[in-house]
Amino acid sequence: MRKNIKSLICRVLSLGLILSLAACGSAGSRTENNSSAAPSEEPGSQAAAADDKTTSEQTNEPADNEDGRESEGSRILVVYFSRTGEQYTVGVIDHGNTAIVAEMIADETGADLFEVLPEDDHYPMTYAELTDVAKKEQNEKARPAYAGDVPDLSQYDTVFIGAPVWWGDWPMIMYTFFEENAEALSGKTLVPFSTHEGSGLSGFDKKLSSAVSGSTVLKGLAARGNDCQNDQDSVRKSVNDWLMKLGF
Ligand SMILES: Cc1cc2nc3c(=O)[nH]c(=O)nc-3n(C[C@H](O)[C@H](O)[C@H](O)COP(=O)(O)O)c2cc1C
Repeated sequence: MRKNIKSLICRVLSLGLILSLAACGSAGSRTENNSSAAPSEEPGSQAAAADDKTTSEQTNEPADNEDGRESEGSRILVVYFSRTGEQYTVGVIDHGNTAIVAEMIADETGADLFEVLPEDDHYPMTYAELTDVAKKEQNEKARPAYAGDVPDLSQYDTVFIGAPVWWGDWPMIMYTFFEENAEALSGKTLVPFSTHEGSGLSGFDKKLSSAVSGSTVLKGLAARGNDCQNDQDSVRKSVNDWLMKLGF
């Protein structure tokens, strides 16, 4: 009988031990669940991560490499077309207005530069003749060829693209560039800029957006050509303010 009582006590004790171990186990798994209960915060953190990505794309902060180092080298490219020779209100210039703005952007952001140069430079160096050639190209929706090899666009997140306003539009050679590189530019952040003598940005942003589908086009900058030659401090200030507002 005493043996039976002993064995009953033993069984009750071992059952108690098992129950308390089980309780510990389930407390442990509740903690795990709690930490994986963080998923209830995940949509928020995913949104935050997505926001960061958008911000990072817009501000062009260098992404970290796999080894955790910040990417070296530029992830920004400035593509531009610009003419020297006789230009409206400034006489004969040897440094194009748009080139001056393009170089300011590159200075500020550490971007690489690519100049769109005509393959066959048929553009006159006198203003009146140049306007005639440009008008003809526009009427014919010409696609003049450009020279040289475009840098590997896959290395860039952001591409600034600038040109003089010609007859209220991008010069036709820029459409050649957009169309030939539409696939490589798609998915990138594009930032238009113009130089002009009164027409402002002339819808460069919307036209760029239509020419390169799938890109994000940010607010553009328009600078007076005359200021580029004669008031570079004010142009540089406009460029810097604009870049800062865009987060560069
Ligand atoms: C062919 C041609 C057409 C132009 N059309 C316009 C125009 O429609 N609106 C405007 O404000 N300026 C116009 N301009 C002035 C240029 O946009 C301005 O001078 C520009 O800064 C030139 O830049 P670049 O030196 O980089 O070529 C035109 C100039 C040329 C040569």
